[in-house]
Amino acid sequence: MKISDRTFIISGGASGLGRATAVDLIQHGGYVAVLDMNEELADELIAEVGKDKARFWRCDVAEPGSVKAAVEGALAWAKETGKEVGGVVAAAGVGLPAKILNRDLTPFSLDDFNFVVQINLQGTIDLVRQCLPALASNTPDGPDKEHGIVIMVASSAAFDGQPGQTAYAASKGAITAMTLPMTRDLARYGIRVVTIAPSMFKSRMTDALSDKVKESLFRTMEFPRRPGMPEEFAHTVRMCVENVMLNGTVIRLDGGVRMPSKM
Ligand SMILES: NC(=O)c1ccc[n+]([C@@H]2O[C@H](COP(=O)([O-])OP(=O)(O)OC[C@H]3O[C@@H](n4cnc5c(N)ncnc54)[C@H](O)[C@@H]3O)[C@@H](O)[C@H]2O)c1
Repeated sequence: MKISDRTFIISGGASGLGRATAVDLIQHGGYVAVLDMNEELADELIAEVGKDKARFWRCDVAEPGSVKAAVEGALAWAKETGKEVGGVVAAAGVGLPAKILNRDLTPFSLDDFNFVVQINLQGTIDLVRQCLPALASNTPDGPDKEHGIVIMVASSAAFDGQPGQTAYAASKGAITAMTLPMTRDLARYGIRVVTIAPSMFKSRMTDALSDKVKESLFRTMEFPRRPGMPEEFAHTVRMCVENVMLNGTVIRLDGGVRMPSKM
């Protein structure tokens, strides 16, 4: 799928991996609809890239009504510019570490578990679901008559969840598991599905970790021994968009690291 003159809908596009993706797609001729809760960061992004190339919709991906309004807005903008929607990148996500059983033998809160699952899992599938009719009915691209791409964001925690990551791993593991059946459902419409599973990447989420935790994480790494850069994630998204043979797969973007139980 070509990037130029296509609109891409990105949840979590105001910060971190989603933001880098938005900037990269714009640099390669794309248009970006940013759906996020963080208006301040989104405004900064729009000021940087220009509002002819990017628009922001305040959206809580855990609220279907909010997703509906934002997707409708993004589709109306794409119609106005004539830059049809070519893909959706579901990058909004949160972590809320909690061990399933506390030292005082109280189990973790179901509300906290559901909070993570609702944003990371329901928020991903709801956004994708609501974008699909537009992808299926756009003008096909290239000799394969491709209609679009769905890119979802999992995590190393989908495979090697660490202590305290039960809820996060549940949400990200489900995203990896959904990738193949969604690919099979959408093949007839010329829509591809790829999931990217990053290890530790530099972002607001990981900047918040203490130096001690970061140091012990670096020690678990193979090569390179550093966090991934948001631009490296964005590069992978671009590769997924442009390479029609990438479909139905989960790309581990992790420098070979396998997260240990204890650090
Ligand atoms: N950074 C990492 O090390 C890392 C590793 C593996 C996976 N991931 C995943 O990558 C994705 C992006 O994370 P990041 O590191 O860029 O974090 P980030 O905190 O920098 O960005 C996440 C964005 O999602 C938005 N968001 C959060 N809840 C939302 C909601 N309910 N509705 C709409 N927007 C919401 C935030 O406002 C923020 O702009 C997440 O899904 C995360 O789980 C990150």
